Amino acid sequence: MKVHDLVIVGAGLAGMRAALAALEAHPHLDVAILSKVHPVRSHSVAAQGGINAALGEQDSWEAHAFDTAKGGQYLGDQDAIEALCREAPDAILDLERLGVIFSRDEQGRIAQRPFGGAGAVRTCYAADRTGHAILHALYEQLLKRQVFVYEEWYVTSLIVEEGHCRGVVAWDLVHGGLHAIGGKAVILATGGSGRVFSTSTNAVINTGDGMALAYRAGASLEDMEFVQFHPTTLKGTGILITEGARGEGAYLLNTLGDRFMAWYAPDQMELAPRSTVSLAIGREILEGRGMDGCILLDLRHLGRAKIQERLPQIRQLAIEFAGVDPVESPIPVQPGAHYQMGGVKTTQWGETELSGLYAAGECACVSVHGANRLGGNSLLETIVFGRRAGLRAAESLRGVAPRAISDHTLRAEERRIGRLMDHKGPERAWQVRDDLGKIMSLNLGIFRTKESMTEALGQVRALQVRAAQVSLQDRGRVFNTDLVHALELQSLADIAETIVAGALAREESRGAHYRSDFPRRDDEAWLKHSLARRTPQGPSLSYVPVTITRFPPK
Ligand code: FUM
Repeated sequence: MKVHDLVIVGAGLAGMRAALAALEAHPHLDVAILSKVHPVRSHSVAAQGGINAALGEQDSWEAHAFDTAKGGQYLGDQDAIEALCREAPDAILDLERLGVIFSRDEQGRIAQRPFGGAGAVRTCYAADRTGHAILHALYEQLLKRQVFVYEEWYVTSLIVEEGHCRGVVAWDLVHGGLHAIGGKAVILATGGSGRVFSTSTNAVINTGDGMALAYRAGASLEDMEFVQFHPTTLKGTGILITEGARGEGAYLLNTLGDRFMAWYAPDQMELAPRSTVSLAIGREILEGRGMDGCILLDLRHLGRAKIQERLPQIRQLAIEFAGVDPVESPIPVQPGAHYQMGGVKTTQWGETELSGLYAAGECACVSVHGANRLGGNSLLETIVFGRRAGLRAAESLRGVAPRAISDHTLRAEERRIGRLMDHKGPERAWQVRDDLGKIMSLNLGIFRTKESMTEALGQVRALQVRAAQVSLQDRGRVFNTDLVHALELQSLADIAETIVAGALAREESRGAHYRSDFPRRDDEAWLKHSLARRTPQGPSLSYVPVTITRFPPK
């Protein structure tokens, strides 16, 4: 069995930043990364609009922290929010030193654009390909430091012995076969679970695997009911059309030509927090002022030159995937699942409830986003808390001798995968996954009610059984994507159940969780985090207080 000092699952921004931080602290550490895709195909590459930091003279980290707490409807832990915002300016300068090429303003400084819910111009960017620019720069740094990457390996289980995480069991996609890989510490950095929903900005790989691994190993998932719906995703495909477009001045129009945000958020207009904009769009569509389930995003007044300079990717995407050139016509857009505010419960240093297991990035809940994340805070979270998790994990390894690991988990996983390979059920994984997406989008979307969610809970539970019984057409070992899809489906189904259970229990509206039957925020009863723990009967829910430091809820 191969044993490393530190094993990181996921090669997106949080995972790479964690690896670099661990090696900065201890250059001789043996750090390995496992990823189910080549690192630069990680979903971080799709982040478009930018990364927040209070760099300008008119701005401050305290103002950034206030906007983050308020935007999250006061459900974020303010000590963690302070850490995020205080460290943001240095994190950006670090990225620049590591080789990230940010767009510049006329004075040659890192350019910043307005973003939703922000009281200052705070979002640094690289045109509308910010995630791409950062991911490639960090990957170059990994190569420079010769970090070993298990490329195209899918982790099926954590190895937990005597209450301590000691590594992972993973399937080697290229050659086939399960292997145990030991690690004195493990960091989960596997990203989000947006593919629980059918309309989503997320890559097809975003199946909540890391959250499901931790949940099955006994760690709590926090605030899972809070799923962000990005207001502007491309009609039909759900491809992200960046908030940066609105930051650069684009309008939202209904089919009557009204700039309807004037009715919902007259001060902030299109740059209100995302939950407000998505609800407004949902309302316009519901009341018949949309078209084919969409409203329009109008960029024409920005002019060709500005669109080409600042938003070239979304122009290309709109032309190729919707047949619309935003230089000439408004883009049809609709809200789509974008980001999971919840995740594996961690401290500000990435520690989970399970000794030896850390988590960072979207799969973790630190929690800084509360009930609604501000645009531009997600890339920041990966960099700040990825670094912190890497540092803390590396520190924990000082003087720790390697330990023998039993093959118990490996054998159990071999039996489980064997059963899955042999099963001859009537359904394929994609069919069940399709149904799951539809159930969740229909019942747990922008508007939620007790009836819709009760219906969904029954269906998701039935679907967990179906997910365990899907039939594989490919029973071979080499590059068996059929097997990976079946395993991903089990992650999706488990994560969906935690989302529904948390949402059904929370009888209030807050940020992205809007209940038509409980339309008000209720701080007295619900200013608290939900924790979901796995039991044979489904998630068991408990609640813990929110940390409030300097911004009392208003
Ligand atoms: O709209 C966007 O560019 C998305 C940014 C984010 O989610 O942070």
